[in-house]
Parts: sequence; C-alpha cells; structure tokens
Amino acid sequence: MLLSAVFLALFAPSVWAQSSVIDAYVASESPIAKASMLANIGPSGSKSSGAFSGIVIASPSTENPDYLYTWTRDSALTFQTIIDQFTLGFDTTLRAEIDNYVGAQAIVQQIPNPSGDITTGGLGEPKFYVNETAFTGPWGRPQRDGPALRSTALITWANYLLSEGNTFYVTDTLWPIIENDLNYVSSNWNQSTYDLWEEIYSSSFFSTAVQHRALRQGTTLGRAIGQTSLASSYGNQADFLLCFLQSYWNPTGYMTANTGGGRSGIDANSVLASIHTFDAAAGCDAITFQPCSDVALLNLFTYVNAFRNAYEINSGISTNEAVLTGRYPEDVYMGGNPWYLTTLAVAEQLYDSLIVWNSQGSLDVTNISLPFFKQFDSTITAGTYTSSSPEFSTLTAAVKTFSDGFVALVAKYTPSSGGLAEQISRSNGAPVSAVDLTWSYASALTAFDARAGVIPGSWGAQGLSLNCGGGPVAQAVSVTFNVDASTLEGQNVYLTGAVDALEDWSTDNAILLSSANYPTWSVTVDLPGSTDVQYKYIKKDGSGTVTWESDPNMEITTPANGTYATNDTWR
Ligand code: NOJ
Ligand code: NOJ
Repeated sequence: MLLSAVFLALFAPSVWAQSSVIDAYVASESPIAKASMLANIGPSGSKSSGAFSGIVIASPSTENPDYLYTWTRDSALTFQTIIDQFTLGFDTTLRAEIDNYVGAQAIVQQIPNPSGDITTGGLGEPKFYVNETAFTGPWGRPQRDGPALRSTALITWANYLLSEGNTFYVTDTLWPIIENDLNYVSSNWNQSTYDLWEEIYSSSFFSTAVQHRALRQGTTLGRAIGQTSLASSYGNQADFLLCFLQSYWNPTGYMTANTGGGRSGIDANSVLASIHTFDAAAGCDAITFQPCSDVALLNLFTYVNAFRNAYEINSGISTNEAVLTGRYPEDVYMGGNPWYLTTLAVAEQLYDSLIVWNSQGSLDVTNISLPFFKQFDSTITAGTYTSSSPEFSTLTAAVKTFSDGFVALVAKYTPSSGGLAEQISRSNGAPVSAVDLTWSYASALTAFDARAGVIPGSWGAQGLSLNCGGGPVAQAVSVTFNVDASTLEGQNVYLTGAVDALEDWSTDNAILLSSANYPTWSVTVDLPGSTDVQYKYIKKDGSGTVTWESDPNMEITTPANGTYATNDTWR
C-alpha cells in the first residue's frame, strides 16, 4: 500500500499525462486507420476504385511515387491484421472481405509474370496491377517474403475455420493456395531474394524469419489435415531456416538485415521481423528473436540509436527518449525520411515485450540486453527481476513510457485528418511520399492492439531448439548427389540416409534421382552444414522391390556453407 502510494506519487503524474494523450490519439486514430485501410481494398473501397475484388492497393498515389499496384507483402500484412481482428472477435463484419482476399490470391498466384509462372518461381513476383495482370517493367524481383507472409495470413484463417469445424473449406479451398506458397518457400528459401525494401539482392533476415514462421505453421496445419509427408518436409526445412536465422547476428549488437548490400545492416527489417514473428507462448526466446529476447532488445536499442543523429527532426531529444525512425539510416528514397510504420514497429516490439513480462511475472536483464535497460536505470545489473521487485516496476513503467513515446511522435506528426502517408519529413515533420499508405494504417492498428495487451495467435515458436549439426550457426548446404549406376528397364535409383533430409533410412520415402544424364543419376538436397551424413543409394523397380548398395554406408562431411557434390559409383 505504502510502496504503491510512494510509487504513484513519484512516477504516476507524468506517466499518466503522457499515457492519457496517447489514449486519446489511439481512440481517435483507430477508427480512422481501420476505415482508411478498408478504403484501399477492392472495387468498393472509396480510394481503390479499379481494384478487383479482394485486391489491396499499396496507396492511391499514382505519381511520385506510383503505388497503384498490389504488393503481395503489403496485402498479406494488411490481411493478417484484418484476419486477426476477425478471429479475435473484434469485428465480425470483415468476413466477406477475407473471402474476397482468398479468392483474389488464388487468381494472383496463377498469373504468369517476369519471375515465372506458378511452377517456375512466379510466386516470388513482388507486385501486380490492381486488375490482376502482371507488371512487366523492371523491378527488384523476386521478393521471397511475399509467399511466406501470405501463407501465414491464410493459415491463421484456416486455423480459425478448423476450430469452427469448417474442415472441408480448409482442405478444399485454402490448403491448395497455402500449399503453393509453402512449397515455394520450402524449395526456394536458400536462394537470393530482394529484401523487403526491394533494393538488395542477397539473403535477408526479415524474409528468413517469416519463411521460418510460415513453414512451422504449415507443418502444424499439414499434420492437422492429414498432409503428413508435406508437413514433415516443411518441418525439415524449418529446422534449417531456424539455424540459418542465427547466422545474421552481428556480435556488436544487432541483426544484420541483409547478407549483401554493403551497408551497416542496421535496419527496421529486424524490428519488423520480431513483431511479425511474435508468439507470446515462446516467452522471451532468443533463437526465434522474440520481441522481449535479449538479442531483440539490444537490436532495438542499436536500431533506434542509429536515428538519433540521422534526422534534423530528432535533434534535441535526450538519449533515452523516443525518436522517429526510418527504414535504415543510409536511406535516400524520397529524401530518406522517418517512416510511420517503422516508428510504430518499435513501439509494437516494446508493447509485445510488456505483454510477456507481465504475463510471466518477471523480466530478465542479461549481459546482452544490459545496454537497453541501462537507458532507464543506469545502476541496473544482469539478473531476473520478479514482478514484486522494485526493479520490475521501474523498468516496465519506463519501457511503457519509452514505447508510448514512439506513438506520441507518430501522433505529433499525424495531420488532423488522421491520414497516414508513408514517410515524415526529416526536416519539418510534414507527411512525405505516398499518401494513405495501407501498410501504415495496418501498422497503427497492430501497434495499438499490442498496447492494449492483445495477444495474437501462437504459431509454434515455443520450445524450439537448434538442431544444426555443426553448431548453432550452421547453414543449410545444397548437396548434389551424383552416382554412376546401370539400371534395368523399370528400375530407378533413390537416395536414403541417416538424417531427416534423407528420410532417415526409409526406403518408402527415399528420394528419387534424375536419370537425365544416364548412367549418372543425380539429385540436389539441402543438408545441415558441417555435419557427417551417412547415406546409400538403392534401386527400386515398378513392383517396389528394393536393392541396396553393399556395405559399408557412404559418408560425407558437409561444408559449413556453399554447395557440395559427390561423385559416386554404385556398389
Ligand atoms: C521503389 C521501392 O519501392 C523502394 O522501396 C525503393 O527504395 C526504391 N524503389 C529505390 O530502389
Ligand atoms: C516501398 C517499400 O520499400 C516496400 O516495402 C513496399 O512493399 C512498397 N513501397 C509498397 O508499399
């Protein structure tokens, strides 16, 4: 009683003052953001006329920049928000629009485009015209986060429908669309991609993180509806992805956004990855980069600080207070400004963290996250602080104030109409670039929900461990198995071996090799790096009779990264 009275007397007035300003902004901006998001969808959207049913325009802006296209990424993040609003019971009027999105994506997936067709890579195409035709101009393509984000949105929807007993629609309508995306992710995640900012062609942390999440969810959904063999292959690839995810860490204190590109790699990419792979059930797990994990908090600290001196508009703000943030400090696009959605993402990561700390009743400060927490209490030391400790109260209150500070800046630079553009001028705070950016509105809604303690559905991040063969940072390595083998009419050569990716010595599920270069048979498989892998070739004929190679087993040690090929002869 006494303690809380002292606490209130000391801290509450200023916290309340700011908090109530934010409450008022959230209350007025929420309905505007929701209506403005819906205004950018489909033919009846007031700002999206010409868009086909279920199609999300990125923005109604038609020049400088021309955003009258539908991006797979923006659309999926928008519908993730809408599907969450519906399935969490906040707005049951959204169902028709969700059905429209499903219908539209089934069509968009099939549009041949410069990235390919549905079987040759077309799912990686980043954007289409709003009348569901291909955009054929030059662009940074492919972007391999899109199919992952779309499948995650659709799996969220499928899980809800399954819980309602609507199995037939899930297996008959949703699963084929989801499966297209998951198969694409499963077989292409190890290929280069343009990053979410459409600029750098390499591997990208955000893409890897959302691909990992998609395949985990695909594994669970696949099992639930009897797609067991696909489910297990998605699970194998998810294990590789989780290992690969670890390799982006820069020990100086942040996730490197891209393996290429030649910049610092400090980028909103990683903050967005954290909020879009939040799973409250996983607590503050570091390997999945949960919002309250020590690595994600240090990353946030590094990212935010990179903008303190980057923009004139941030000058004069003290070093432990919120600032406006952008995509990455070196950005020059449209002048290189702060963005609404990146500043809101910082707030959202911190609100997500508060949800977990409050629900688990404790907060860990580690040597990794210490610099983040020292902003709020310079005397804090590493340790576990339970909810009854003064440190817990001080730190969670300070983090709440800090996160509200990011929303306060967004509020300050929201024009009186409530409209959210893409960017905020780095010099005078005026809205810049695309007006009414759909993604800006979606990001406001998800940040506001997180602030209110809303917990989105779990996706299976809980209890994962690294199984990387050669240590925690092993990457997947692409291994081509070549074997010279003469076969009889009707016989084929298969590969089986001692790891999941080689089907654990199964003969039924053994991997078929191609005879395109007969008598050399070949197949390329992703294997864990730096790992000893035993294997054998087998022959099977039309009636299923299996002939094994003679003993002993063959064995290779995969390299740490890159590719590898064998040159075997059947024995
Ligand atoms: C347009 C892209 O949408 C944007 O992200 C990028 O920064 C510019 N092109 C410049 O490459
Ligand atoms: C440019 C952004 O960099 C990209 O992420 C986004 O998809 C498009 N604009 C459309 O909003």
